Amino acid sequence: MKNSSRPDGDYPVWDIDPYDEDILREPRDYFATLRELGPVVWIEKYGFWAIGRYEQVRSVFGDWKRFCSSRGVGVSDFKTEKPWRPPSIILEVDPPDHSRTRNALARAMSPKSVLSLRPIMEQVAETLVDRLLDTGSFDVVPDLAEAFPLKVFPDAVGLDVNNRHNLITYGAMVFNALGPDNRVRQKALANATEVVPWIIERCKRENLTDNGFGAAIYRAADEGKLTNDEAALLVRSLLSAGIDTTVTGIGNAMLSFAHHPDQWELLKADPSLAKQAFEEVLRYESPIHSFFRTTTEDVEIEGVDLGEGRKISVGLHSANLDPRHWVDPDTFDILRKPTGHMALGVGVHGCVGQMIARLELEVLLTALARRVKTIEPDGDHVWRAGNSLRGLDHLPVTLRAA
Ligand code: HEM
Repeated sequence: MKNSSRPDGDYPVWDIDPYDEDILREPRDYFATLRELGPVVWIEKYGFWAIGRYEQVRSVFGDWKRFCSSRGVGVSDFKTEKPWRPPSIILEVDPPDHSRTRNALARAMSPKSVLSLRPIMEQVAETLVDRLLDTGSFDVVPDLAEAFPLKVFPDAVGLDVNNRHNLITYGAMVFNALGPDNRVRQKALANATEVVPWIIERCKRENLTDNGFGAAIYRAADEGKLTNDEAALLVRSLLSAGIDTTVTGIGNAMLSFAHHPDQWELLKADPSLAKQAFEEVLRYESPIHSFFRTTTEDVEIEGVDLGEGRKISVGLHSANLDPRHWVDPDTFDILRKPTGHMALGVGVHGCVGQMIARLELEVLLTALARRVKTIEPDGDHVWRAGNSLRGLDHLPVTLRAA
């Protein structure tokens, strides 16, 4: 990325590296200081703005005209730097272009078609949880957090493939590419030559079954709403955003319950709380820590003139922990109804896959709550340094049957 010079004005300037791997693994202190320093803070090392308070995060994400996505939702500015892959035609565009592709994708993943997945998801979840209970002790990350979405999501899209782990590798590339050119990004992109052609093949119509979301996207092309190339890119969007996010959500949910046995007791006593419990996981251990926007004109936040063409790191997780908005934000409380959390985004780009994500987690947490008496940590968990996602590398646990 190119470093941009500091604009004139009176505002907090912070000499910190938000992409330091220790901060990426555990960003709570960084976020707390960011929020304390002010509503908008200049990060000298990279030459971008950072915001972490709830109010400003909500207003920036709610204003696509002045804070655009078309210049990239990561550190680099697509106006001046070449993106590592052709940009997303949904995430990295603004209205009106965005509205057409967004509508096509939302229609392909209509509530009816998403809800029709429930019985198969329940069956997969129950079988998986029974198997894990037989095993007893295992690592949540590969054996549960990855295993569940890797079974249900590619099937739902219509991918008829075996080597599904490539999807995790690709997701890691997409999300880590949004950061600066650090070790995390370089390591993730080192897999590009192998995985990108594989993904491109998977997005072709002839490689999709005819009853999944992929085929539904191509039907929009048949109706003249998209070109075939656009349909392929929208399938790519599902493969980019639909796996690593839920893998992270499941891992973070399991960690939250392993560390808060009282909350597990509550969920066990009433498994119908599963849906609401996942909302609290999203707030408390948000899978995506930040995304960027770029100013399209001279804009001001709380009296600070940001300037045009400036990158802003928008701390979604930070906003979800902001004591200016939440009561006891550092308490994991599944009885809280955390309406208004921004873990799934907000505004025109709010997560288009949120129904699927919520369904996956509701089904999985319900199956666990009905069968599992205790979730005990079985050694230390390890966070993974991610340039956009905050999830686990390892979470060893022991499950005991109810
Ligand atoms: C827990 C799981 C998930 C989380 C935390 C999450 C989070 C987010 C967030 C924060 C955004 C907003 C990005 C922005 O405003 O720049 C977003 C957008 C998006 N998500 Fe998700 N997501 C999840 C699951 C999914 C799934 C399962 C899919 C696919 C079915 C998906 C597909 C997308 C797409 C395509 C967009 C772009 C929407 C647009 O630009 O209009 N996500 N997601």
